[in-house]
Amino acid sequence: MRLEDMKCVASIGGGVIGSSWTLLFAMRGLKVWQYDINQEQIDNCVKNIGRNIDSLLEFGAIQADQVESIKSRISYTTSIAEAVKDAQFIQENGPERLPIKQSILAEIEAAAPVDAIYASSSSGLLISDVTAHAVHPERCVGGHPYNPPHLIPLVEITYSGKTDQSNVQLAKAFYQSIGKEAVVLNRECPGYIANRLQLAVYREMIDLVMRGVCTAEDADKALTFGPGIRWAIFGHNMIMQLGNPGGLKGMMAMLGTGGDVWLADMADWKHMPNEKYGEIAQASVDEMMKNFPDEVGHTNPEIAKYRDKMLIEILKLHHKF
Ligand SMILES: NC(=O)c1ccc[n+]([C@@H]2O[C@H](COP(=O)([O-])OP(=O)(O)OC[C@H]3O[C@@H](n4cnc5c(N)ncnc54)[C@H](O)[C@@H]3O)[C@@H](O)[C@H]2O)c1
Repeated sequence: MRLEDMKCVASIGGGVIGSSWTLLFAMRGLKVWQYDINQEQIDNCVKNIGRNIDSLLEFGAIQADQVESIKSRISYTTSIAEAVKDAQFIQENGPERLPIKQSILAEIEAAAPVDAIYASSSSGLLISDVTAHAVHPERCVGGHPYNPPHLIPLVEITYSGKTDQSNVQLAKAFYQSIGKEAVVLNRECPGYIANRLQLAVYREMIDLVMRGVCTAEDADKALTFGPGIRWAIFGHNMIMQLGNPGGLKGMMAMLGTGGDVWLADMADWKHMPNEKYGEIAQASVDEMMKNFPDEVGHTNPEIAKYRDKMLIEILKLHHKF
């Protein structure tokens, strides 16, 4: 299989992630077969895609004359065999349960061309487990998006010991060809890269709030208007590089053991205090929503719309639209 031959994609499962992948594939000129288990799920998927197209239009990420051609590239089906039979790339977006992922893969393998690449959107399962019973594990990778995949550029690619390295490179090239920023993990690990980084920050944030150092509202403000706004441009290694005339190495030498005092005081617990934190932090988050300017909004749907508008503005600066 060559990248130039990859023109038809199957998107298996059309929920939050599947419908967003499908929209991205169609926006990038690919023919897409969208599969879901019944007509009701297909109808929801069509609605999701329609809503996402409406916001892309409203925020200037696509033009009105593109809408019909994007929609015309998507075909919907409740037959998995029909979805995959002509596909060169298959993005699996079913429920996050290992037995379901394995049975979806078996259904795919029964009907897909043997050289079609299979990529699972799984957020946390190891691709070696998902493909444990695969007939062709050599063409299987993990392709973990960040929600929503039609906007957020990152995709994390993982592979098992049985995956053919040329297929890893092909999957990477395919994702890059549709504008994704693809990173390949050199070895499998739970949570991959981005979710682990996110959780490390969130653990500390939760700890600061639970210790009474700050409110959830102020922790969010510190993140958004401090490191977060820089992280939308460069990762932390590049931020360190820019922080010292000697670059990252100079910065590390300058910091010396200065961070050790902080590290000694920082959270290192291994169980998420989810319920307790929910109880403590919700009132502060409600207050934050009340305090937002009207332009941002005061309800979840209003604020989510503002988030998407701002995401598109940032992505335009990154030349992603
Ligand atoms: N939601 C996120 O933020 C996010 C981010 C990255 C990755 N993911 C991963 O993407 C995958 C899908 O997550 P989601 O949030 O879209 O879930 P979802 O519940 O919104 O969608 C799942 C879809 O799979 C369909 N489905 C159910 N059984 C199926 C089967 N046997 N075969 C095919 N499809 C089936 C459902 O009808 C539904 O449309 C999961 O593996 C999840 O971990 C989710």
